[in-house]
Amino acid sequence: MITRRGFFRFLGGSVLAAAALGSYAVGIEPMLLTRVKRYALTPPNWPDGLKLRVVALADIHACRPWMTPERIASLAEEANALEPDIIVLLGDYVAGTRMVSGWVDSHEWAPALSGLKAPLGVFSILGNHDWWEDLTAQKAGQGPTIARRALEAAGIPVMENDVVRLEKEGHGFWIAGLADQLALRPGRAWGRKGFTGLHDVRGTLAKVGDEAPVILLAHEPDIFPDVPSRVALTLSGHTHGGQVRLFGYSPVVPSRYGNRYAYGHVVEAGRNLIVSGGLGFSIAPIRFGVRPEILTIELG
Ligand SMILES: [Fe+2]
Repeated sequence: MITRRGFFRFLGGSVLAAAALGSYAVGIEPMLLTRVKRYALTPPNWPDGLKLRVVALADIHACRPWMTPERIASLAEEANALEPDIIVLLGDYVAGTRMVSGWVDSHEWAPALSGLKAPLGVFSILGNHDWWEDLTAQKAGQGPTIARRALEAAGIPVMENDVVRLEKEGHGFWIAGLADQLALRPGRAWGRKGFTGLHDVRGTLAKVGDEAPVILLAHEPDIFPDVPSRVALTLSGHTHGGQVRLFGYSPVVPSRYGNRYAYGHVVEAGRNLIVSGGLGFSIAPIRFGVRPEILTIELG
């Protein structure tokens, strides 16, 4: 049985070898070429007249040479050029692989994101890597994480089991952000046997004060079976579409549901989930069949 880590390490080694042989253009460049992935939907009970364009960036995984502050700043410009009403960041800002030529710390990646601009605002959640790389938070079993403080210092609100009510042309709607489902790693020193999530779906939605639609930001899509139909749309990242995807199938997906929530638009019992393929890399610098993407979602 091949592990996800082993699979990516093997492929990563092959890509580095190929790059050394001079196939940069065919091997590496397409893995870094961002595309805009568009969705348009009208969730059940969506109010007439509310037209909303949401742009989402997921799994940035800042590190050199793959995701430098300069590249992050240019992704922010690309996102702004899509003329969104609102921009959401779906977590995992920090490096997700050891195959780097240099680290990019929060004092570099957070300011690069501060260029994001949208009339109704920019909102963020955290991902598992933002927690895992913060040993102080791991030890304490709580935040605020380094990533949270850096985002806030850059003027970007971070939502961990929190909601905000916004309005466009007189129509209200809510953005709800879930705390990470894998935030605390197991460790004897920390007294934890397994991964511990800090998410609270029920408590978060209890803060929603009226009938206006809710868009839920949840880094890992695995929460989706627990999301009530009160939520119009759930937005997730984390899977990177498996990083390798062939004919709509991903051989390895960091989800207990395998391919069910690996990538794209999922509708279950009238509930909508969109999983971004993300922008960066986990474990190894590999992408095949899943280009880095910025989402633009038209609701209404
Ligand atoms: Fe993640």
